[in-house]
Amino acid sequence: MPGFELFDHREIDAVADVIGRKMVHRYSFNDCRDGIYRVEEFENAVAEMVGSRFCLAVSSGTAALYVGLKAMGIEPGDRIITSPFTFIATVEAITECGAVPVFADVDESLNMDPRSVEPLIDDRTKAVMPVHMFGSAADMDPIAKICSAHGLTLLEDSCQAMGATYKGRYVGTIGAWGPYSLDPYKLLTVGEGGLVVTDDEELYRTMEYAHDHGHVHDKSIDRGAERKSGLGMNFRMSEIQGAIGLVQVDKMPGAVKALRENKAKVLKSVGDIPGLVRRSFADQDGEIATQLVYILPDGESAKRFQAASGEAGVGCGILSGNTWHYARHWDSLRDWAERTRARGIDAPEYLPEDMAVTEGILSRAVVYGIGVTASDESLETMAKAIKAGAAAAL
Ligand SMILES: Cc1ncc(COP(=O)(O)O)c(C=O)c1O
Repeated sequence: MPGFELFDHREIDAVADVIGRKMVHRYSFNDCRDGIYRVEEFENAVAEMVGSRFCLAVSSGTAALYVGLKAMGIEPGDRIITSPFTFIATVEAITECGAVPVFADVDESLNMDPRSVEPLIDDRTKAVMPVHMFGSAADMDPIAKICSAHGLTLLEDSCQAMGATYKGRYVGTIGAWGPYSLDPYKLLTVGEGGLVVTDDEELYRTMEYAHDHGHVHDKSIDRGAERKSGLGMNFRMSEIQGAIGLVQVDKMPGAVKALRENKAKVLKSVGDIPGLVRRSFADQDGEIATQLVYILPDGESAKRFQAASGEAGVGCGILSGNTWHYARHWDSLRDWAERTRARGIDAPEYLPEDMAVTEGILSRAVVYGIGVTASDESLETMAKAIKAGAAAAL
């Protein structure tokens, strides 16, 4: 799955060039860097690729989410409806603003079920943030419709799905702004890093200042003399990461193509097995194919599938056991909610029983990771394991 599988001499040369020039800061030293700004070049390349007016590089996907929420003015007590099947960073960015995450249900796409959103809206709700899980887009049209009917901002957590599209538009460019994660597990990785894309210039400027202590960047003067616009933090990306990103963005179309081909090989070899159902898709052609998910009839059959697949040589995970990506497991969120309520801000209890619909799907969903550089032999072994799993489960 991850882009580091594709690291080669090009990333090494790009990093060596930055180090050789001793120019690691994306800002400053304007008079002695020969006009070379790798992070800026990277931002421009990503903006062009996804068709966004603006792109800001930051230090992580988590920072991208946080900077975006802060820039749009999310405040303590505000509520944001999101998905309980996500990486915890989605909710941490919300809680770090003092705002309150509210969980919709997921459907068999593993993404937000649009039908579960409307009953959760009240006068504290500010935005709805579906998460494009496992490289495939959430169904944005019905969610956008709900947002406009209720005067809410449509957001997206596109951290896991850079390169995926929904009805021809890149995820991340559909809501008011969109984040991408460039951490070591992502298809485009710079080690650690993130990006935010938006078409809204004012929002972009606010994010730009906020990610660098409020600096109003001006190449014509010394950094020390720059004006400040508000308080901020340091979520800057370094030139080392920018240089890696520039190489990786060039490799991205090839990486997505390879993933799609690899997944297609597995599916072809598995063939049609009556009763074996895959995750559903809001836009199947737009997925980046980082994972392959089957939804079994019930939890017991998922366990039989998992055991047989493992015995056949390839393990798969059952998603309800995924502590990283499923809010049911997050005692830390429940603790936060208790402390938040004690401070007088209403927050849900996030009880496992409140996630029954999502549990009903994740407990019967099994997942395989697809490698960019997977050999035909390993893909064939995966297909055999899937067939063994299906034979035991169905
Ligand atoms: C859905 C989602 N949101 C946010 C993040 C946070 O990204 P990062 O690890 O770059 O901080 C991730 C990372 O895995 C993610 O999967």
